Amino acid sequence: MSRTEDIKRIQELSKSLLEHVQDEPFLLRHISQLRECICFHENRYYVMNDPLIADVEFDQLYKLLEKIEATHPTLVTPDSPTQRVGPGIAKQFNTVQHLVPMLSLENSYNADDLLEWDRKARELSKLDELQYCVEPKFDGASISLVYENDLFKRGATRGDGVAGEDITLNLKQIKSIPLSAPFSKYGIQQAEIRGEVLMNKKSFQSFNEQLIEQNLPPLANPRNAASGSLRIKDASIVSKRNLEAFIYHIAYLHFENNEKEILSHSNSLEMLWELGFRSPVQEKKVFKGIQAVIAFCKDFEEKRDDLPYEIDGLVIKVNELALQEKLGMTTHHPRWAIAYKFKARQATSKLLQVEFQVGRTGSITPVAKIQPVPIGGVTVASISLHNQDFINEKDIRIGDTLLVERAGDVIPYIVKSFPELRNGNESKIQFPTQCPVCKTALIKPEEEAVWRCPNDLCDAQVVERMIHFTSKDAMDIRGLGDANIRKFHELGWLKNIPSIYELPFDELKRMEGFGAKSVTNLQEAIEKSKQQPLYRLINALGIRYVGETTAKTIAQAIDHLLDLSKMNLDELQQIEDVGVKVADSIHQYFSKKENIEMLKGLESLGLQLNSIKKQSSGGSLSGKTFLFTGTLNQLKRSEAEQMVEDNGGKILSGVSSKLDYLIVGEDAGSKLEKAKKIASIQILDEDGFLKLIG
Ligand code: IVH
Repeated sequence: MSRTEDIKRIQELSKSLLEHVQDEPFLLRHISQLRECICFHENRYYVMNDPLIADVEFDQLYKLLEKIEATHPTLVTPDSPTQRVGPGIAKQFNTVQHLVPMLSLENSYNADDLLEWDRKARELSKLDELQYCVEPKFDGASISLVYENDLFKRGATRGDGVAGEDITLNLKQIKSIPLSAPFSKYGIQQAEIRGEVLMNKKSFQSFNEQLIEQNLPPLANPRNAASGSLRIKDASIVSKRNLEAFIYHIAYLHFENNEKEILSHSNSLEMLWELGFRSPVQEKKVFKGIQAVIAFCKDFEEKRDDLPYEIDGLVIKVNELALQEKLGMTTHHPRWAIAYKFKARQATSKLLQVEFQVGRTGSITPVAKIQPVPIGGVTVASISLHNQDFINEKDIRIGDTLLVERAGDVIPYIVKSFPELRNGNESKIQFPTQCPVCKTALIKPEEEAVWRCPNDLCDAQVVERMIHFTSKDAMDIRGLGDANIRKFHELGWLKNIPSIYELPFDELKRMEGFGAKSVTNLQEAIEKSKQQPLYRLINALGIRYVGETTAKTIAQAIDHLLDLSKMNLDELQQIEDVGVKVADSIHQYFSKKENIEMLKGLESLGLQLNSIKKQSSGGSLSGKTFLFTGTLNQLKRSEAEQMVEDNGGKILSGVSSKLDYLIVGEDAGSKLEKAKKIASIQILDEDGFLKLIG
């Protein structure tokens, strides 16, 4: 999409527009250039993943356009970047016919399947060897987009393949889908293109964390999150879901003049990229002959978890388009493509019994104990059933056969039960009326889905609060895992959070199983945690609805933790992302005398209650990008990454030309090899990094 001369022109244009913020006649004369700049930068950011201006500068340009359009509504064009966020509430989704039916792919699972498919394709095409293009099989929701006269006209779900639901408004919220694309440059008047909408793993994880914080059951996998998001009636909610779209197929083209011939599938991916779509040009690989494809497929399955998004396999396509046409299709599938599916991340197992666990906020969670079953390399024996509604909705009974899924790093999830496999010995799950630990009568606030133990001093809650406090994303006290916390609680050493900082180390040294070295390590880890930044402490307190993300915005908004005790509900809601529910929960927490006493106690023990503000710009690493690979010796990976961010730098997820520094630990692998081939990347070891950061 962007050639050097375009980049230079746009950079200069962006600069000059920003210099004329107050000059309305100038801006009016240049409104189409302003739009062009914004579209260009959206493409660099959302499609190419390689932005060329700072976020604040982009926001300035965008706000400028919004302002001019507000005062001159007649100048608004349908493909203006401001038009993504329309009025946006759909009453229902209309059914629309696809211009060309959306076919599905035949599946293959092993080398033999691929050999057989290749044999047939060679036989039909009368060739000895075929060229194949291999690309990820994106595990999301499939979409079909129609562009007419360069404008994004309509987008639809797959539906039954012939007709789908019109979800145009929702798709306009996805920034990697351009509102206009210069098809006319190729003489194309109308195009129907296909792709997949995804939620990447990171966004999915934080989306699920938010659901859990609200006591809602999390979703099984990013695919469900993506397809569910596309069916939301209010487009403004969709825009907050961080969805992405990959476009991998041109289904139909109508030329208004000379037809430009596209020769191969890989050419069509390149053309889509040129047009501004996020097609898998970088991810695709072209091979001669099926043997090389088979080797690649086997190798790639190992790397599945390294990608930032979920894939469930690879798609192998005959590269030459003339050959694709010759091979044609069966009633269901094209003969020129096949999916190579990776090992399933689902399995069936029996529900043996249900235990009820008490969480740190007193919530009672039913946990299914199942016949242990391996899924994706991990044995699953225990799975959350979330709450009574979840159990009712899925109709789960003790003795049932269940379908269990474990997608990537995602927590295992019960997809469904199989009532048809029951033999009559199954029993309903009985919810307790008393706390299984302290026997206090349980309560269920009307608006909530979970039962709760209202006793703050319930042993289970006390222990869970300490486990959360010390956990990796909170105060990160290594060596004080769940088992030790439980043991020390039983011994009477750990009664509450402050007691973590008063552990009797001398007695501990005399205990069986604790060597002098491990006790010293633990002592050091506890001491070090006192310096953790405030947002970690806020997260560690376990205030309801306040997870890591909210903790970060709160820490940015205050100077000292106890400032929160002086704020009323209105003031709390002024903090970014803090709504009524969160404000109410924070207010309740800080109205309790015992909590204030505890926090003062922690401060006198040396914990950091002051907020050290992160600089939004500046810092010695400002504008520089980093990636860590291999095992670091002196620093934890998370610590090193935090240091980069604290100094204004940015962490990237992969090696590319936009990477400035690769920091290499022990046993570094393919990332190092790749980085060596890109001259602009500086490769440093851990010492070099520490020196750089000063
Ligand atoms: S090609 C006519 N390529 O997998 C061929 N499909 O049953 C059109 N999918 O419905 C499909 N990644 O939703 C193709 N790189 C990729 C894909 C892909 C994911 C989905 C697509 C399709 C299903 C196969």
